[in-house]
Amino acid sequence: MQNVLSSIQYVEEVLSNHNFDNSRFEAQYIVSHVINVNQNEVYLYKDLLLSENEKQQILSMLEERLQYKPLQYITGTGNFLAKEITVNSFVLIPRPETECLVMEIINDAESVKFGKSDVHYSLDMLDIGTGSGIIAISLKCIFPKWKVDAIDISEEALVVARSNSNHLQIDVNLFTSDIFDNVCKKYDIIVSNPPYISEHEYKLLHPEITEYEPRIALVAEENGLYFYRRILEQAASYLKPGGRIYFEIGSKQAGIVKKIAADNGFELRSLRKDLNDYDRVLSFTTT
Ligand SMILES: C[S@@+](CC[C@H](N)C(=O)[O-])C[C@H]1O[C@@H](n2cnc3c(N)ncnc32)[C@H](O)[C@@H]1O
Repeated sequence: MQNVLSSIQYVEEVLSNHNFDNSRFEAQYIVSHVINVNQNEVYLYKDLLLSENEKQQILSMLEERLQYKPLQYITGTGNFLAKEITVNSFVLIPRPETECLVMEIINDAESVKFGKSDVHYSLDMLDIGTGSGIIAISLKCIFPKWKVDAIDISEEALVVARSNSNHLQIDVNLFTSDIFDNVCKKYDIIVSNPPYISEHEYKLLHPEITEYEPRIALVAEENGLYFYRRILEQAASYLKPGGRIYFEIGSKQAGIVKKIAADNGFELRSLRKDLNDYDRVLSFTTT
């Protein structure tokens, strides 16, 4: 482990011996983080000699990884739609599925389906269960004129969201709320990636998730449907006429969430699949 290349090879070999699937990628991720270079460029520095301190950091990150701690929690950073954000164990690690949710809203807004001709018009948007703030921050970044509120029940999660909003200099109004409890205005768009895993499914998840990611961000009562029911029962009071609601959903929840929405007077607008061809995003409008 004298230089960058031999360190990558060493970390890769240890991870591979412990049956980690992407050992090469993970080794590059760890070493590039320690020497503070872009992961795609790490081989440009292959002959760079490492200091004792850097070697120790690599070994300690490797040790954490062998305990299945996710890489993003080890480095304290995650990626979402090409932005680097801070994460810690109080917030969910950003998932590619959630990028589909944000892309659906961007596509709608840009194809002028909101009936306005200028994508830079002002809209009011609420993100329920904002976690690290990725959904709210990404949309506010693309549509700077939107007024974006984002809530979470977890104070600790909001600290992370605030730090990301400040660091990226994107102004999002963050506040604590149990779903709509502290919300007092009406919105053009409500978006949520709520907890949607049932107690039963949670027991089957990998320890990498159950031992490190916050349970409150993952598990929902009523077989994973609690938040969809609660939000859809109350959403009409918080949407302007013609307002829209966008959800990320579990891959088998489209049918039942559509039914809950219909029972509460919402009309289906779209169902979008994720990159693995699973149902992932539903949007509804007030009828
Ligand atoms: C699946 S995570 C989504 C986090 C982030 N929006 C994302 O997409 O990565 C769900 C979030 O809902 C929050 N949450 C859980 N129960 C809540 C409640 N009753 N009211 C508001 N937020 C809640 C959790 O703290 C967590 O941050």
